[in-house]
Amino acid sequence: MTPKIEFVGSAPDRVRADLLAVPVFSTAKGIQLGPGADVVDGALGGSLLAFATETGFEARRADVLAVPTGGLLGAKAAVLVGMGDPETIDTDALRRAGAALARRASKVEKVATTLLDAVPESLDRAEAAQALAEGIVLGAYQFLTYKSDAKPSRLARVQVLGRVGAKVRDGLARGVRIAEAVTWARDLVNEPAEAKSPETVVKLARALARANGLTVRVWSGEQLARERLGGVIGVGVGSDRPPRFLRLAYEPRGARKTLALVGKGVVFDSGGLSIKTAGGMETMKTDMSGAAAVIAAMSALRDLGVKTRVLGYVPLVENMPSGIAMRPGDVLRMRNGKTVEVLNTDAEGRLILADALSLASEDKPDAIVDIATLTGAVTIALGDKIAGLMGTDASWNAQVGAAADRVGERTWPLPLPDDYRKLLDSEVADLRNIGTGGGGGTLTAGLFLREFVNGAPWVHLDVAGTARAAADDGYNSRGGTGYGVRTFIELARTFDPVKA
Ligand code: BES
Ligand code: MN
Ligand code: ZN
Repeated sequence: MTPKIEFVGSAPDRVRADLLAVPVFSTAKGIQLGPGADVVDGALGGSLLAFATETGFEARRADVLAVPTGGLLGAKAAVLVGMGDPETIDTDALRRAGAALARRASKVEKVATTLLDAVPESLDRAEAAQALAEGIVLGAYQFLTYKSDAKPSRLARVQVLGRVGAKVRDGLARGVRIAEAVTWARDLVNEPAEAKSPETVVKLARALARANGLTVRVWSGEQLARERLGGVIGVGVGSDRPPRFLRLAYEPRGARKTLALVGKGVVFDSGGLSIKTAGGMETMKTDMSGAAAVIAAMSALRDLGVKTRVLGYVPLVENMPSGIAMRPGDVLRMRNGKTVEVLNTDAEGRLILADALSLASEDKPDAIVDIATLTGAVTIALGDKIAGLMGTDASWNAQVGAAADRVGERTWPLPLPDDYRKLLDSEVADLRNIGTGGGGGTLTAGLFLREFVNGAPWVHLDVAGTARAAADDGYNSRGGTGYGVRTFIELARTFDPVKA
């Protein structure tokens, strides 16, 4: 259940709640009680600071310490939430504080908090409120569908205390709405592959789209051939669960600019005939994380009043070995007419994205972003908390990177070196689908995709590392992270084609 988050003017010592969450800072001189924590300290006769210090509470980011209030406050207990150095508080610190609160409060129903008052004057209070709400909802996230002894978080209500204002209230509502979209993406990513065939994903996306004012077009079977989607057909042919191509459109009245989003939707990646190891396959149900991010982000645009037209392109396939699966050495003809020699059937993401990027280009958007769990190599370079960002236009790269940065989704630029393009030269076709020789796997994948983008500025996000978290960490829970949903929403809200 998503906790309800509301903004109220109550005083921290009077508000009735199971827990009162208050910020504490760490400074060179030791810990420093933040707004609300000082009130608790006062009510407890000044014993709080001494207690926290004696128990070794350092107030680093997301440190938490629960203390009794002995009936001296309206709240039954207080939770000190570490905010780290007060000089370095940014919106992501609020997101993390919200998540720490939600995790600590999972066994109670009602929490009140003064965390928003930890925000320095230099930060936009509405943006901080949005981040706090996102952190609370995402920190409470659990995927329990298949747990027999599920103990869902009981947290039902969070009252954010402070100066009442419409902007902050809107910020909180926006944060909740965005986190709901992230939750939808996480749920789909965490679902076993068995339960999310291309057909099923389309069904779920249709229902979501209908409820949120998106128009949907789906191609299947013969239509895929008629539309010449050679990559989607080639990858999908080995599975008994046939491929689909999904196109979503958000078209608000009066929109004057168009953003295209493209997401890799491999519902399971066995590698195909170039089969993966058993270990390599364990997490491959998450190979549709890009698709989930595009669908989920688009579902929130109407509620958020986004004015830009946004088009989503989502190829959905299952990559399986079989008697009719594509073979190494086979040649596919892609949507834009280019031919590809498939030397490794495990480099399948780029094959389906080739068609999707061609289709996106044909619609003449002002800019394109794709998101894909594309290469294991990006996790070698950047680990599982930073996505690789590549693109054809420096200012569009910067715009996407900055949007990601603002919402706490980390990226780092990687190059698309022109002289590496020859590594994709094929003996028989226009391109081969893997680079010749070792190394630079993320870059050759990016260069491959570039062959299918025609015109508009384009950014590629390789999220093979960031789409999944190996352990609970802040507002991410083990499993699908929903990486990209927040970036895409932020990008759509602030889209500037002039800078693209
Ligand atoms: N889906 C994988 C990439 C991946 C690997 C995602 C690990 C998440 C975690 C992709 O389809 C793939 O198999 N890529 C190959 C490319 C290679 C054959 C050129 C890879 O990275 O090994
Ligand atoms: Mn693969
Ligand atoms: Zn894959």
